[in-house]
Amino acid sequence: MSGARTSDVLIVGSGAAGLTAALNLADRFRVTVLAKGALNEGSTAWAQGGIAAVLEPGDTFESHIEDTMIAGAGLNDRAIVEFVVEGAPAAIARLQELGVPFAEEEGTLHLTREGGHSHRRIVHVADATGWAVQEALQKAAEAHPNITLVPDQVAIDLATSRHEERYSGAGNVWGVYAVDRATDRVNLYTARATILATGGAGRTYLFSTAPRGATGDGIAMAWRAGARVSNMEFMQFHPTCLYNLEVKNFLITEAVRGEGGRLINPTTGRRFMPDYDPERLELAPRDVVARAIDAEIKRDGLDYVHLDISHQPPEFVKAHFPNIYEKLMGLGIDMTKEPIPVVPAQHYTCGGVMIDRAGRTDLPGLYAAGECTQSGLHGANRLASNSLLECFVFGEAAARSIAAAWDSLPPPPAIRAWDESRVTDSDEEVVIKQTWTEIRRFMWNYVGIVRTTKRLERAQHRITLLTREVEEYYGHFRVTPDLIELRNLLQTADLIVRSALHRHESRGLHYTLDWPQTLPEAIDTVLVP
Ligand code: FAD
Ligand code: SIN
Repeated sequence: MSGARTSDVLIVGSGAAGLTAALNLADRFRVTVLAKGALNEGSTAWAQGGIAAVLEPGDTFESHIEDTMIAGAGLNDRAIVEFVVEGAPAAIARLQELGVPFAEEEGTLHLTREGGHSHRRIVHVADATGWAVQEALQKAAEAHPNITLVPDQVAIDLATSRHEERYSGAGNVWGVYAVDRATDRVNLYTARATILATGGAGRTYLFSTAPRGATGDGIAMAWRAGARVSNMEFMQFHPTCLYNLEVKNFLITEAVRGEGGRLINPTTGRRFMPDYDPERLELAPRDVVARAIDAEIKRDGLDYVHLDISHQPPEFVKAHFPNIYEKLMGLGIDMTKEPIPVVPAQHYTCGGVMIDRAGRTDLPGLYAAGECTQSGLHGANRLASNSLLECFVFGEAAARSIAAAWDSLPPPPAIRAWDESRVTDSDEEVVIKQTWTEIRRFMWNYVGIVRTTKRLERAQHRITLLTREVEEYYGHFRVTPDLIELRNLLQTADLIVRSALHRHESRGLHYTLDWPQTLPEAIDTVLVP
């Protein structure tokens, strides 16, 4: 085995899911955690609103479960929803033990409200919850002697039985090949168990609240290695991303609506949510609010709509949303006095690698947790602030199931080193940039909030052409981080479009003019490699 870096468990991803898994394994196992950039560059550090948990006597697990199922349009796996919702209070307690300074009011946790929740049940750290969570998890992981954190390693593909020096035919996953950004060399990381915690695929779309690295790498790697992928048509669009020509992709948390923010059509000056969802208004689930904004924008030819919380006292607004207030002031918008221009943007990937309750994928030795998975929790539309929660519950579940199965997990055999014979450097980096932009644009225009079969077929046609080009490029030139991401972005776009074409109904986030009805039976879309 040439130069493999071997640990007991390899985790690809250093966000909430990956670090939770690492901390739950490290007392017993040697764990390596890879990140493709800095350790805090995933979505976790960007989370604003908070984490949903039943913590008040007036609230119940049943209510959180029902809200999750209603948002998910009945496609959720009820047993999984129960498992996650019931695991929330313990997850919050562990984060407190790690030092996450959740906001308090009169000695108890302050709970905010977000769309689709029938109670106040979101714990938060002002409007920058993710940053505090990432910091606490990272600090604990850095302090643990059994955890090795390795940034700037861009995983290319899973190392599987196909890469064994002496082919066993067992079909196991043994780790990953990853490009080291510092040396441009490909390293081989092996382990008995590998956990994918690589986050979502938001950057498949032109406008997204997700960080630059959300390119669906884990989903694409698992798919190429032979794991099933499910429900990729359910891409969540957050209703309120800041509309600004300089600052792209800045989220205005749903908690602004939770604390009284209203959506206004800037041309008519009318509050428009009563026309779309008279009962739940601005706090209807995200798919409903995003479609309402989209309809207003398209009907009146607007660039954006207004989100207005200026009727609340200035001190209240500044205390609840200090980071957003500061950011907007820097752009000349005073949210205590004037409305904020907002548009919907891609926000969350509900589908992903299929896992069971124990975080197991289809492939022996491969586990997954967090946004790269389809666990059964979110169904056709994720309920606000259920996502970090899923990372904590499944990060721990994957760790527990690896520990339980440890004696039956074989140690990695000798794996071939990466084939470095493709040493030609590309002389046309512009191809990557052009293709990347092209994908994100047609995904936005053809596979967005409102779909039609014709638009989906147009997208599919382009994906077929580009796949040929990118695979040819991949076959001829040295792998670079940009090329790896482009290949994954295209693979993920293909999975999204195929899933969307497969679903002959409108449900949750998948809304198509050609199949407007919701079918009586809710069935997952499962793609088999
Ligand atoms: P991430 O935190 O995204 O981490 C992914 C990790 O994988 C990173 O370390 C990355 O470097 C690594 N990685 C990826 N590909 C590779 C590769 N090829 N090689 C090596 N490493 C790789 N959810 C909530 O519940 N509440 C909120 O308030 C909330 N607010 C949000 C606000 C914003 C702006 C966004 C974008 C999302 C928000 N979400 C929220 C969603 C939530 O933040 C994410 O779903 C969650 O953080 C995902 O965590 P994760 O651990 O699965 O992945
Ligand atoms: C937000 O703060 O609006 C994001 C919450 C989430 O994505 O769950």
